[in-house]
Amino acid sequence: MRIAFLGYGNVGAPLADHLQRLGHDVTLATADPASDGVRKALGRNGRLKVAAPREAVGGADVVFLATPFPANEEVLTGVAAELAGKILVDCTNPVGAGLRHGLESRESGSQAVQRLAPAARVVKAFSIYGFENLEDSLYPAYAVKPAMMFCGDDVAAKKAVGELIAQLGWEPLDVGGLEQALHLEHMTLLWVRMVRVNGASPHTVWARLAR
Ligand SMILES: NC(=O)c1ccc[n+]([C@@H]2O[C@H](COP(=O)([O-])OP(=O)(O)OC[C@H]3O[C@@H](n4cnc5c(N)ncnc54)[C@H](OP(=O)(O)O)[C@@H]3O)[C@@H](O)[C@H]2O)c1
Repeated sequence: MRIAFLGYGNVGAPLADHLQRLGHDVTLATADPASDGVRKALGRNGRLKVAAPREAVGGADVVFLATPFPANEEVLTGVAAELAGKILVDCTNPVGAGLRHGLESRESGSQAVQRLAPAARVVKAFSIYGFENLEDSLYPAYAVKPAMMFCGDDVAAKKAVGELIAQLGWEPLDVGGLEQALHLEHMTLLWVRMVRVNGASPHTVWARLAR
């Protein structure tokens, strides 16, 4: 698939790297090809492409949004026309002071993203764990794979994202429509407090047991 990244820091860079190594055509969307962030991402994988945001998004089937939540409005407004009909994978989380939900749980960040990009097919994914697990999703001592919960309203978009999740080594766990994003964002806050505040291992993930 042709995949563009809006944001290629802790979250975007490892995902872009792994997806390129899996054979996808991956482009970093940037207004500044000489930036430190681009240099670092290319240092990790020199086969990543670089293009201006409108060109990168316009040429993609799937666009990953991996920017700080407060930057989403500026980032998405700049590529609004090019996003029409595209799958937009929202990796962002609105995190407020004291690890509260950044939108005070009135709505999810992904629903806000959908409003900013109304013609995009938003799927929330790759948001519930720290970036360490995006660097390395392997848990070889276990018979089950770590679960990657994701949600969205567009069935075909979710199928495509579920396939990418599986290729990246996770068990895709479709938890429902975009209204579920609020609950995923609270799961993120749970994980962040457990790990970043209370000291649990950053390689802490959830797995699905079902019968
Ligand atoms: N860190 C985690 O463990 C983690 C895990 C899951 C989800 N998330 C969520 O994922 C998102 C990204 O987190 P991160 O840790 O990857 O952040 P990060 O390392 O700071 O990377 C942010 C990326 O966004 C770009 N960016 C920032 N402001 C921008 C703007 N105004 N316009 C265009 N690009 C901009 C940065 O480019 P420059 O470097 O050039 O500024 C960088 O490529 C956040 O919403 C976060 O809540 C984080």
